[in-house]
Amino acid sequence: MLLYTFLVFAIISITLVKSQNVPTVCNGYAEFCNIPYSQISFVATHNSYAYGNNVAVNQNFDIPTQLKDGVRVFLLDGHKSPSNTSSEIELCHQSCSLLDSGTAKNTLKNITKFLQQNPNEVITIFWENFDNIAPINYKTSYDQAGLTQYCFTQPVDEQWPTMAEIIQSGKRVINFIDSNANTDSVPWLMPEYSYVFETPFENFNSNAWQCTVDRPKDQPQQMYMINHFLYNKITNTNIEIPQRDSANVTNAANLAQHVQNCTNIFVQRPNYVAVDFYDKGNNNINVFGIIAGLNNVSYISGGTDGTKQSDASSLKLNVQQNDSMHVE
Ligand SMILES: *[C@@H]1O[C@H](CO)[C@@H](O)[C@H](O)[C@H]1NC(C)=O
Ligand SMILES: *[C@@H]1O[C@H](CO)[C@@H](O)[C@H](O)[C@H]1NC(C)=O
Ligand SMILES: *[C@@H]1O[C@H](CO)[C@@H](O)[C@H](O)[C@H]1NC(C)=O
Ligand SMILES: *[C@@H]1O[C@H](CO)[C@@H](O)[C@H](O)[C@H]1NC(C)=O
Ligand SMILES: *[C@@H]1O[C@H](CO)[C@@H](O)[C@H](O)[C@H]1NC(C)=O
Ligand SMILES: *[C@@H]1O[C@H](CO)[C@@H](O)[C@H](O)[C@H]1NC(C)=O
Repeated sequence: MLLYTFLVFAIISITLVKSQNVPTVCNGYAEFCNIPYSQISFVATHNSYAYGNNVAVNQNFDIPTQLKDGVRVFLLDGHKSPSNTSSEIELCHQSCSLLDSGTAKNTLKNITKFLQQNPNEVITIFWENFDNIAPINYKTSYDQAGLTQYCFTQPVDEQWPTMAEIIQSGKRVINFIDSNANTDSVPWLMPEYSYVFETPFENFNSNAWQCTVDRPKDQPQQMYMINHFLYNKITNTNIEIPQRDSANVTNAANLAQHVQNCTNIFVQRPNYVAVDFYDKGNNNINVFGIIAGLNNVSYISGGTDGTKQSDASSLKLNVQQNDSMHVE
């Protein structure tokens, strides 16, 4: 009898503890909790760290503001420290003499802070490993930023857990790196191209977007990223500068159409849509509204003034749900 009572108590308390941990809202939406991570579409900022007073910047706002506005996917470039006296990883675009946004550690700290304050949010980081830095050095930056404890490891070719399961696991940061991954030394820094493919990233013309499997070449993976940002080449140089002045056009109907085209061609919604100047668009359409439409949720806020509102149904794309990959 005593044993029986004990068992009943044990079961009740385990159930209580468990149910306390079950999130009811995941990345801002109740609808997301029971959906696998791999079936959600996310807004991604290209060169998220590159903001400020410099012609080479890709964004108008810093990462804490991006987080406040609803961005949850960050594309970061890891470079060797230019002073090369330390093993610190530096966030630079193309070259650290053109644009240097400080250490990876400092930016990762911003993300740690957000995660501590927002227990039901999942964040994804993509590293362009410009100098082929060893994963163990990235781990050092994550350790120093207090972020390693949050990093999630997903086996290749397995079904992704739901958003709620990821949140419950406490490991809410998904990390990919585009070269030199070493899953023996740092399992959570996952080789991007075993999980994700990308459309072409060097685009100069808003009428020439493509929906092709660019990286890894012709090797579709379970998830994909649409790169939707434009460069101008500085005459007689290899330097490319983001097209800032047209971002309000690039990130509106043109973006919706590119997303629709790729969704049709790949017969699958994009997982990540990467843009420059994410805050740009127009009153009726911007990247947040387009992504909400893909996720079949309503878009209630976003944009840096926090007041933009739109009805996702008016932006809703003609989305076909189809898990089998189909590449033309
Ligand atoms: C990280 O946060 C600090 C303090 O808010 C800010 O000064 C810095 O610019 C942020 N870094 C990035 C890359 O957004
Ligand atoms: C800095 O880089 C240069 C060129 O790669 C190399 O010769 C030198 O040894 C490096 N210095 C340090 C302190 O790592
Ligand atoms: C886009 O912004 C530019 C200024 O940056 C402005 O001249 C242009 O009228 C805007 N276009 C639209 C369609 O809002
Ligand atoms: C979408 O596809 C159509 C048909 O191929 C093409 O004419 C259009 O330019 C594409 N739009 C974008 C923004 O990619
Ligand atoms: C979109 O969500 C609504 C409820 O908000 C639901 O009725 C509808 O079936 C959903 N559509 C798809 C394609 O999932
Ligand atoms: C999914 O796509 C495949 C390949 O294009 C097609 O054969 C299949 O009919 C589609 N399934 C659904 C439910 O649309």
